[in-house]
Amino acid sequence: MVAISKIATGNGHGEDSPYFDGWKAYETNPFHPIDRPDGVIQMGLAENQLCFNFIKKWVMEHPEASLCSAEGVNKFKETALFQDYHGMPEFREAVAKFMGKVRGGRVKFDPDRIVMSGGATGAHEMVAFCLADPGEAFLVPTPYYPGFDRDLSWRTGVELVPVVCESSNNFKITRAALEAAYEKAKEANLRVKGLLITNPSNPLGTILDQDTLKGIVKFINEKNIHLIGDEIYAATVFMEPEFVSISEIIEEVECNRDLIHIVYSLSKDMGFPGFRVGIVYSYNDAVVSCARKMSSFGLVSSQTQHLIAKMLSDDDFVDRFIVESKEQLLKRHKYFTLSLSQVGIGSLKSNAGLFIWMDLRKLLKEKTFDAEMDLWRVIINEVKLNVSPGSSFHCDEPGWFRVCFANMDDNTMEVALLRITTFMHKHNEAMVPRKLCRRASLKLSLSRRRDDFMSPNMMSPHSPIPQSPLVRART
Ligand SMILES: Cc1ncc(COP(=O)(O)O)c(C=O)c1O
Repeated sequence: MVAISKIATGNGHGEDSPYFDGWKAYETNPFHPIDRPDGVIQMGLAENQLCFNFIKKWVMEHPEASLCSAEGVNKFKETALFQDYHGMPEFREAVAKFMGKVRGGRVKFDPDRIVMSGGATGAHEMVAFCLADPGEAFLVPTPYYPGFDRDLSWRTGVELVPVVCESSNNFKITRAALEAAYEKAKEANLRVKGLLITNPSNPLGTILDQDTLKGIVKFINEKNIHLIGDEIYAATVFMEPEFVSISEIIEEVECNRDLIHIVYSLSKDMGFPGFRVGIVYSYNDAVVSCARKMSSFGLVSSQTQHLIAKMLSDDDFVDRFIVESKEQLLKRHKYFTLSLSQVGIGSLKSNAGLFIWMDLRKLLKEKTFDAEMDLWRVIINEVKLNVSPGSSFHCDEPGWFRVCFANMDDNTMEVALLRITTFMHKHNEAMVPRKLCRRASLKLSLSRRRDDFMSPNMMSPHSPIPQSPLVRART
């Protein structure tokens, strides 16, 4: 066989993980209300599809934003020829302004620091190339987006070291967890070059509070390592408390700004993953300069830059879009979490993102990742929903699943909820006889023991036994 590269033959892409397996299961049998009513419903895709009617209206009202219209065609030639890796000035200005608006207007972004890339995927790799050499490491709090293993590691040779966060404190990023990961990396002879945080979090749907962010900035300054803040879900915060960006925190606390880098994209906040608009916003001049040169490998098409520049410089549209999008997400989130809670499924309390972090720990046959995978197989093959198991997000504890709720219409959501309800009813029915059996055998052994130790006339009026739920369950 002809030899090809290690990258080409290795498994660094991670395509064989269950996260991607679920997508494959969906792709071979996708749900369609008429053609494939028994197909798999895709709930593993963090897409924001709830505002497309709103956006479509703007597109219809602004034919000049499209190059293939009578109103826009006079810009066709110059746009088709444009290929400067600095990007169109009006695009950078519009994106910088949008980033400020999404953060409540509390911070301003400098258009000259906006560097474009092919989605946040490309932006992460670009940052990794700029900050670390092969074999050096970034710390990443768990659970984290599975794509990071591909984006930051695959082609750069950079290692990711998990910062283990736990459900016992709602997956908080603590100083102790950061220190433990840092020490572990050192023990493995890895030089730690940075910490990557995702705020709002994918998969948790939560945001980092001010104190945690301040603690993180303190930590990276003390260790003199970089901080990459993935803020691509910034505009999806649909409920209090308000989103706080790392760009706000560094205005408040002492910090070496050369260490701070933000990754942004329009894939989630606007719902445009197909446009591949990714942004690196670094406060470090050397990184901006290098990243800009690297952006030749993943420029955003000038046609897209043109459209986005027009759309995002329409202040009225942007202001209304931000409000509308949050309202739609809130409505969906409320309905979805309420419906799940009615069938006994809980989830981590969240106020952002396009997904919930569903707690199915009580459905596991045992507390293992094998049992988590068994349950995942049932969900994908029998319930016919593609949800993502926590293990694919490097979650430390089995039983958590990420479920996306904004990538489908209302009817598909209803079908998904119906399937979940039916599954839970079946599960509960199956549990009842088992519980009753267990109760019956317990009752037997209890009564035997009672016979052993107490004669009926020895029974105390305060004995807990008559009030026991075991007894009540019998009647
Ligand atoms: C946290 C996070 N970062 C980056 C990405 C990649 O985004 P993009 O489509 O802009 O490449 C995703 C996509 O799901 C994500 O969730």
